[in-house]
Amino acid sequence: MERFTSVATLLVTASLFAVSAAALKEGQTCAANRFCDSGLHCETCVADGNARPRCTRIRPSDPTSQANNLPFNRYSWLTTHNAYARMQVKSATGSFIVSPRNQQDSVTDQLNNGVRGLMLDMYDFENDIWLCHSYGGNCYNYTAFQPAINVLKEVQTFLEANPSEIVTIIIEDYVSSPNGLTKVFDAAGLRKYWFPVSRMPKNGGDWPTVNDMVQKNQRLLVFTSKSSKEASEGIAYQWRYMVENQYGDGGMTAGLCPNRAESPSMNTTSRSLVLVNYFPDMPDFTKACKHNSAPLISMVNTCYGAAGKRWPNFIAVDFYKRSDGGGAPAAVDMANGHLVCGCNSITSCKANMTFGSCDIPGPANAPTQAAPDTSFAHLSCRSLCQWQFVGMALLILFSV
Ligand SMILES: *[C@@H]1O[C@H](CO)[C@@H](O)[C@H](O)[C@H]1NC(C)=O
Ligand SMILES: *[C@@H]1O[C@H](CO)[C@@H](O)[C@H](O)[C@H]1NC(C)=O
Ligand SMILES: *[C@@H]1O[C@H](CO)[C@@H](O)[C@H](O)[C@H]1NC(C)=O
Repeated sequence: MERFTSVATLLVTASLFAVSAAALKEGQTCAANRFCDSGLHCETCVADGNARPRCTRIRPSDPTSQANNLPFNRYSWLTTHNAYARMQVKSATGSFIVSPRNQQDSVTDQLNNGVRGLMLDMYDFENDIWLCHSYGGNCYNYTAFQPAINVLKEVQTFLEANPSEIVTIIIEDYVSSPNGLTKVFDAAGLRKYWFPVSRMPKNGGDWPTVNDMVQKNQRLLVFTSKSSKEASEGIAYQWRYMVENQYGDGGMTAGLCPNRAESPSMNTTSRSLVLVNYFPDMPDFTKACKHNSAPLISMVNTCYGAAGKRWPNFIAVDFYKRSDGGGAPAAVDMANGHLVCGCNSITSCKANMTFGSCDIPGPANAPTQAAPDTSFAHLSCRSLCQWQFVGMALLILFSV
């Protein structure tokens, strides 16, 4: 028995070695998240007829690693719709939650995966400000997720630990308590990162460069849906600076990109920022992988046309990790490629290149797609991977 155990240990050790030596690339068949390269996870997309578990993207490329001297409006950021409405959590009131869920992981995990835009619904509740997914402007125990300060503190921790990152918070604002938002942002320690409204371009001009924003430590952009709070609390009224397409089912008709009612029309160039929403009225975990793939890329292209040839600065989705390959991160990489260097993907941009000079042939400049499953790396992995399975099987056998 002891001999068997040591054989198993040996095989398990060998298989762990193999895992780190042969991390799988995008599109390759996988058995679990940990076998995929960083920035990827392992999933199927049955809604798109794809039952083979493959490594798919969950993280966009960092556009500022290519160029950090461009205005903020020359970048695109992955944005999570209802970032706080996480699956499988109970309300902090102790109640069950009847509201739909839009995301799979915590805001900290989202930020670590490269999400830089957070859509948060804020309400007065329990003498505090809560993140709530409710109706009629009122929050209830069974629609309340948690006090907003918890999530704002996660943002604070991230900004503290990542001194060159910029985060945007877009608030669906139901707060009417006096200075309610000001108090909760201050209490979370976010005041020192605040990007002042006075520096936001009012007439379609360029934003300060990301470099400048980082140097001045003005790395938090906050937008509210209540116009009066710009004057009263210095919180930017979203649609004075941004155009946005229709959210929900009404924003998912292929070939159309109408503006959201509160937003000026998409082609209003006196607003420097463009937000593209692409998610249904009712969050759909199963179909999100399909929505976040080819149809999203297609909608980003449609909205580019509708917005007067402007690529989106924010791409907002449900279940940002779900995709049939490159997903929302690939859509963001595409927008960043066009914004930063005039190429199809940020991965084709090179330092100091002439804008649009992306004549590099080969896959790097091809439209973002899942890699075919026939690469040499994958074939050479096959034998190793079999040993991983043997190792895991033995581990399970001997640990019971
Ligand atoms: C809502 O939750 C609070 C705890 O946060 C509790 O004190 C209160 O009784 C609950 N209200 C209802 C109607 O269940
Ligand atoms: C802008 O878009 C609106 C539709 O939202 C359209 O009616 C108008 O003609 C467009 N303006 C220009 C200059 O393209
Ligand atoms: C790009 O240009 C800047 C400024 O001209 C220079 O400092 C930098 O070294 C250049 N980088 C590369 C990779 O050529």
